[in-house]
Amino acid sequence: MGIKYFVTGAAGFIGSHLVDSLLSEGREVVGFDNFSTGYEAFLESARQQPTFRLVRGDVSDPGALTQAMKGCQVVFHLAGNDNMRLGLSQPRFDLEQNTLGTFNVLEAMRATGAKTILFTSTGNVYGETPMTPTPEDCPLSPQTSLYAASKLASEALIEAYCAGFGIEGYIFRLVSVLGERYTHGHVMEFYRGLLQDDSKLKVLGDGHQRKSYLNVHDCVAAMHYILELETARQARNRVEIYNLGTTEYCEINDSIRWISGFLGLTPQLEYVGGPHGWIGDNPFLYLDVSKALKTGWKPDRNIQESIRQTVTWICDNEWVAEKNKC
Ligand SMILES: NC(=O)c1ccc[n+]([C@@H]2O[C@H](COP(=O)([O-])OP(=O)(O)OC[C@H]3O[C@@H](n4cnc5c(N)ncnc54)[C@H](O)[C@@H]3O)[C@@H](O)[C@H]2O)c1
Repeated sequence: MGIKYFVTGAAGFIGSHLVDSLLSEGREVVGFDNFSTGYEAFLESARQQPTFRLVRGDVSDPGALTQAMKGCQVVFHLAGNDNMRLGLSQPRFDLEQNTLGTFNVLEAMRATGAKTILFTSTGNVYGETPMTPTPEDCPLSPQTSLYAASKLASEALIEAYCAGFGIEGYIFRLVSVLGERYTHGHVMEFYRGLLQDDSKLKVLGDGHQRKSYLNVHDCVAAMHYILELETARQARNRVEIYNLGTTEYCEINDSIRWISGFLGLTPQLEYVGGPHGWIGDNPFLYLDVSKALKTGWKPDRNIQESIRQTVTWICDNEWVAEKNKC
């Protein structure tokens, strides 16, 4: 019998691509999602596959998780809140959705005997570190958002479960991800702003924030590639952390120029908030990805291409811009 994969957040931006990628390799997949930010449409192709089963459920429900996970050996845990700014208005949300959600996933693994977890964390756990590009072993600077704090706490839980219960864990600290099925983030916000009034654009921050981005196909390929490589080594009781991103970064101003250029617009820019766009916005997020590159994985698309692909996808799927207002 082959390995059966469990994917939380299967209907989301990254999760749905991951599901498609696993299915394309003939894998058996159980997708688990509460559809809070995910979409049925993203699983349209997956649902045609006999090797795919979708379970509607919430990671806050341990019984539902355990029931759905039975028979699965590898767990990709992607479900949770990805809206970094929500923590300021709803401080409990990240704790419940991310940290306790991860705890419930780990407990379900203990109950069902699933032995491998792959987790999508964030490069924001490094805080505003002066060390850029930031390697995995960089000392952590103070946390500046409840989102990153909840991800770091999730990472710590994974480490403790790996040490205590013979699980192996892979933690991916991602930069922001772009590409088809993109539903949230700065490109969507700028697009939505321009849809309302294409003559001007409000920018949170001074536009000089420097950020790295990764294409969703490259992100999924990395997780997949590293899993295959590490599984061959049959490690137990250990955790590996990988930064995932590209070897480049851009300024928010570059990103605005590209987005506006693709749309054929020249909006007047209004900057608000100084060097930080909002509390928790890291003005320079750029990860050292040499550990991931050393495995043999490498990203195929650069940031400008990824922004173009994202804008094209949003233009072709305006219903997402309409629906996903935050
Ligand atoms: N997109 C990025 O730039 C980025 C960067 C760093 C880390 N991540 C992390 O990667 C993961 C996936 O991100 P994404 O961009 O695909 O986000 P997404 O919002 O598109 O996907 C999350 C999915 O999880 C589901 N979900 C949310 N809460 C749930 C719950 N309580 N129970 C069950 N399902 C639930 C949603 O319905 C959605 O389908 C998240 O954990 C996110 O924090 C994303």
